[in-house]
Amino acid sequence: MNPQEIISKHPPTQDNLLNILHDIQNNHPENYITHEAMDLVARYLNMTKSSVYGVVDYYSMLSVKPRGRYIIRICVSPVCHLKKASQLINHLEKTLGIKSGETTSDKLFTLEVAECLGQCQEAPSMMINDKVYNNLTGERIQEVIATYR
Ligand code: FES
Repeated sequence: MNPQEIISKHPPTQDNLLNILHDIQNNHPENYITHEAMDLVARYLNMTKSSVYGVVDYYSMLSVKPRGRYIIRICVSPVCHLKKASQLINHLEKTLGIKSGETTSDKLFTLEVAECLGQCQEAPSMMINDKVYNNLTGERIQEVIATYR
């Protein structure tokens, strides 16, 4: 489905902005929102381009850069930080062969850091697309990543 088809599934009210943007991103094979798509959204919702760009820029879940099929978002907020999230980031970077913010050359994984995922009671935590993984250890990360390869 192309961005125009996705947009026209939603009523043209500004309340739908985030839903439309998420829908466009989720339907792009590289998990991002193009400038052309943002321009179409702005026109459809009668908004300025800069206000649509501003919303995309504000929300860390939205991206204007091509990303991998699987977005790994590891929490770096205080509870996870205390439970050694930084070591887990190093572990993920080594396992994937990329730095945080990068995408693997096979376009399978993008590694991102995130604010609290609402899983503090079972920290440290990460998400891969919409799925949450808690009580992470280096070993658990290896197992989880292997299931996506
Ligand atoms: S601080 Fe990491 S899930 Fe809340």
